[in-house]
Amino acid sequence: MGARSRDRRKPSIVLLAVEIMAVTATGLAVNLLTNALPKSWGWLSDWRIFAGIAAISVIVTFAIQWVKGRNAAVSEDPDQIEESTVGGSAAADQSARATGTGSIAIAGHANNSILATGSDARIDARKSIVVEGNLSVPANMPVTKGIRNLPRPPSYRFVGRTDTLSQLHELLQRGPGGVLGQAVQGLGGVGKTEVALQYIKQWGPQYAGAWWLNAETFESIETELAGLAGSIDPTAAAALDTPKAADWALDWLSTHEGWLVVLDNVSELEHISRIVATTLNGGSILVTSRRQIPWSSLGLGSISISSLRRDASISLLSRVMGEGSEDADAALLASDLGDLPLALEQAGAYLAQSRSVSIANYRERLKGQPLAVLSEVAEGTPADRAVAATLKITTDAIAEKYPFALEILAILSYFAPQGIPTEIVTIGPEDQRTSGHELSARFEFLRRTA
Ligand SMILES: Nc1ncnc2c1ncn2[C@@H]1O[C@H](COP(=O)(O)OP(=O)(O)O)[C@@H](O)[C@H]1O
Ligand SMILES: [Mg+2]
Repeated sequence: MGARSRDRRKPSIVLLAVEIMAVTATGLAVNLLTNALPKSWGWLSDWRIFAGIAAISVIVTFAIQWVKGRNAAVSEDPDQIEESTVGGSAAADQSARATGTGSIAIAGHANNSILATGSDARIDARKSIVVEGNLSVPANMPVTKGIRNLPRPPSYRFVGRTDTLSQLHELLQRGPGGVLGQAVQGLGGVGKTEVALQYIKQWGPQYAGAWWLNAETFESIETELAGLAGSIDPTAAAALDTPKAADWALDWLSTHEGWLVVLDNVSELEHISRIVATTLNGGSILVTSRRQIPWSSLGLGSISISSLRRDASISLLSRVMGEGSEDADAALLASDLGDLPLALEQAGAYLAQSRSVSIANYRERLKGQPLAVLSEVAEGTPADRAVAATLKITTDAIAEKYPFALEILAILSYFAPQGIPTEIVTIGPEDQRTSGHELSARFEFLRRTA
């Protein structure tokens, strides 16, 4: 507001002055030249020639600027004209600018126009700029029903987990002591994301709006929150940088009720503490995480999910493999794979594609070369969906923070899968000593049983 601007449809006085000066200077130069030219060229110094050129160039300047002004979409606020604070212009390149209180800029072709209102509204071919004071107030933006940003469709081969889903729903609806957040935690590939997807499929429509946020890192949470802002108010989100758009989304969440936000694959509590604080007014948060960390410190309840029940594993295998999965062998394979859904899907898809390989063959190879077999995916499946790749994410994280702990885990892998006394793992160099307590608290591989 108050910024002076001119209406670009009118020819610029400065431009005209420059033009007159240029014509005069040319006149003087030609005058000097004609003294050196033969007499027959004397007519060049006639003043009427210069007057003619000057007049034509002024007319041409007027014409060009008038045509430019006509082609542009222009807006202005008539109330403000006297203060000379208003101007509006837009060029044929689909940009537009309008200044002054309540001014409007419109740009674009007939079928693709953008309208921005407010003081100093500007639009160009790349982005619209809405001055912050004119942004929509999050609290005033209505709830927009719908489910957004699902990373993939819920699996149509979903098996088991009925108790987990109803428990989750009950907790998210009522929540102990008003807590409306729940964390689903468990080993990579155990089906946390799938549970959240199935939850959203079954119960999502009951929420005023449901959003899925990839929450692995602080940056991804911020980007996804900015996306959430964009789905509620595209104009506001386009006008703000990512951190501000994320703040806008948090403001929206904290001023509305009845929404559901899924935070998938959270790795640190502090990454989500601000979002959790926004539930005070009444939204629900569903977290998934590999980490067994004190979720209750954020007021979140937690549900631990582990491998599938054997009957569910067998039915998943047969759904993936289609006809021909022999039950007895399928049960043995499910047991070899620890009833881990990711492993069952990987093995089932591989077997479905390689009809010549029987379940018995596959089990034999798995026993002989577990790493090679667990790295092998069916054609068309991304390699990072292999069990080996999924588990490697965890082992890499351990290696980075506690290299010695990885060696302990390697030794422990020779033990039977039953309980191992924690004293055994309190070994190692003084500076890298890691207790069994610490390991089990940090990594989903280990679970303390006593
Ligand atoms: N209960 C289930 N029924 C059928 N498929 C499942 C089930 N749980 C997980 N899956 C499948 O197993 C794979 C791994 O599950 P996912 O949810 O991504 O694991 P996580 O999030 O725990 O790492 C996915 O392809 C998923 O579709
Ligand atoms: Mg997941």
